[in-house]
Amino acid sequence: MLSKINSRVKSISIPGIRVFANKVNEYENGINFTIGESDFPTPENVKQAGIKAIENNLTGYSHNAGLLDVRQAISRFFEETYHFYYDPATEIVVTNGASEAIDSVLRTILASGDEVILTSPIYSGYESIIHLNGAKSVTIDTTDNGFILDPERLEQAITDKTKAIILNYPSNPTGATLSRDQMEKIVAVLKNHNIFIISDEIYSENTFDGEHCSFASFPEIREQLFLIHGLSKSHAMTGWRIGYVLGSKNLMEHVLKVHLNNSICASLPSQYAAIEALTANREAPADMNKAYIERRDFVYKRLREMGLETTLPTGAFYFFPSIQSTGLTSMEFATKLLENEQVAVVPGSSFTGNGEGYIRISYANSMENLHEGLVRLERFLQK
Ligand SMILES: Cc1ncc(COP(=O)(O)O)c(C=O)c1O
Repeated sequence: MLSKINSRVKSISIPGIRVFANKVNEYENGINFTIGESDFPTPENVKQAGIKAIENNLTGYSHNAGLLDVRQAISRFFEETYHFYYDPATEIVVTNGASEAIDSVLRTILASGDEVILTSPIYSGYESIIHLNGAKSVTIDTTDNGFILDPERLEQAITDKTKAIILNYPSNPTGATLSRDQMEKIVAVLKNHNIFIISDEIYSENTFDGEHCSFASFPEIREQLFLIHGLSKSHAMTGWRIGYVLGSKNLMEHVLKVHLNNSICASLPSQYAAIEALTANREAPADMNKAYIERRDFVYKRLREMGLETTLPTGAFYFFPSIQSTGLTSMEFATKLLENEQVAVVPGSSFTGNGEGYIRISYANSMENLHEGLVRLERFLQK
């Protein structure tokens, strides 16, 4: 029966993040720097809101777009924090994590033969879905530009076949963020082209230097834009599976059809927890950020002491140092580091082609583990 499996599915593989996360669990003293999730627990009152929903038998389906109360809480969050407005009745769909938001948007817009531009290196969750839809990914290298998209390269990459661009700032895996000035130059290019803009800003609340600026705050691209967001990273809620898509009404009615055929609605108890997170726990990310900044500064100091070239991440919770000086490929580096020192990192090659020569280190981990893991990394490099 194998020959009958969809060839597009056969051509995609398990992401490098998962491969190394699974392998490190085989070691008793393994240290896992692959994890893209907070090591903090979900805030207590958010957990209680989910528990209360279950106790009150709020365990059925909701409106396909999500409870109106959740959509209103999402709308208010963006309006009060970032000063742009999406109508909760028609312009917001609550999804099962940002992953399903990405999937639903891409399946809404893509047809066979379309091209989607990705800044590269970038999160691995986009390319496979693009390929599953019979579309092609076109990467723009950012490694020689501090991982920032160069507007001139963007202009050159857009062709008649371009259906969309995906932007992800703060960036997984590089930790790069964009200033308003840099965004204005990108918007100036995009507004002149009839292409969709998918801005995945799931790490917006994990911005460490200055304020996050959203692509949704530029009215000139509103009709082209899908904003992807969710609570996984900001509120340590990866397992609750709450994400959302915001977009203009005429686009979102189509996204809603794809979403409801995929999963009907997001988990209802999780939606009640989401209301609590978005209304009573706005400050939760800032509290966690204090710890992330302390860890980031420690890791930065240590990586530099070891001679690993790296930029200082200004958002998300990842370092993306170059390992080119070792002469190893990123896969060889990650494999040997795991076998010799039981430390798991993600090979940069997992983040599209331009990530080769780098590794991703997540510092969403305890200081104790960071300390020990970096001692081992240094020993590995010395050998
Ligand atoms: C950039 C980016 N987008 C989306 C996701 C998926 O988020 P969720 O867990 O809400 O599906 C991740 C997870 O690591 C991510 O890094």
